[in-house]
Amino acid sequence: EPDRDLEGLRVLISAGGTREPLDPVRFIGNRSSGKQGVALAEAAVARGAEVTFVGAHLEIEPPRGATIHSVETAEELRVEMIALLPEADLVIMAAAVADYRPRTVSEGKIKKDVTGDVLTLELVKNPDILAELAASKAEHQVVVGFAAETARTQEELLSLGRAKVARKRCDYLVLNTVGWTEGFATDGNTIMVLDRDGHRVIEAEGTKLSVAHSILTAVSTRTPSEIAV
Ligand code: C5P
Repeated sequence: EPDRDLEGLRVLISAGGTREPLDPVRFIGNRSSGKQGVALAEAAVARGAEVTFVGAHLEIEPPRGATIHSVETAEELRVEMIALLPEADLVIMAAAVADYRPRTVSEGKIKKDVTGDVLTLELVKNPDILAELAASKAEHQVVVGFAAETARTQEELLSLGRAKVARKRCDYLVLNTVGWTEGFATDGNTIMVLDRDGHRVIEAEGTKLSVAHSILTAVSTRTPSEIAV
């Protein structure tokens, strides 16, 4: 990999999975391990970038050489990312953000003898942090999103990705498939990076660290070399 080619670049990365509390002891969570985000942070550190890492629940150690912030919920992640945005050149939203949170958080533990045989949860939508960052960024800043989709074919994956990039208006979207052998909690990954027009910029396959290097190269290059669409 290029040596210290990201020297001076300020990179802000979110990773892991948010947890939305139901009561003091329970939450709604997801299977994100944080591995790809940690790999991105470590790759950026190795290339000389100044890295700020915002971790929601992680199953592995946070990245070495980065400034670490910890959050629990989507709302906490949102507040942290918005506060840190002005100090970043490149923002990568690798965190798995809960789409919904419980409408109310019980102050005491929810008791089954009180709630009975059926407990109905009411969930409300969380704000889309990536879309908000993309909408409020300055011209020179680059905002990158992730999309983990359960697509059956490459074409289906591409069209889901193109719709998402158009909806969120981020500069780049890293697409991968999840649900079978690839994705969450595994060491390897297969990804495709789309630019804001939905064009494929790169495809990469390998360890999460080698994929991280490919992603960083793709999104830190000003004129992406577009490959066949
Ligand atoms: O819509 P979807 O959850 O598939 O989008 C994934 C991308 O959007 C990821 O980059 C994720 O970090 C981000 N996201 C977000 N806020 C949400 C949901 C997703 O920033 N509420």
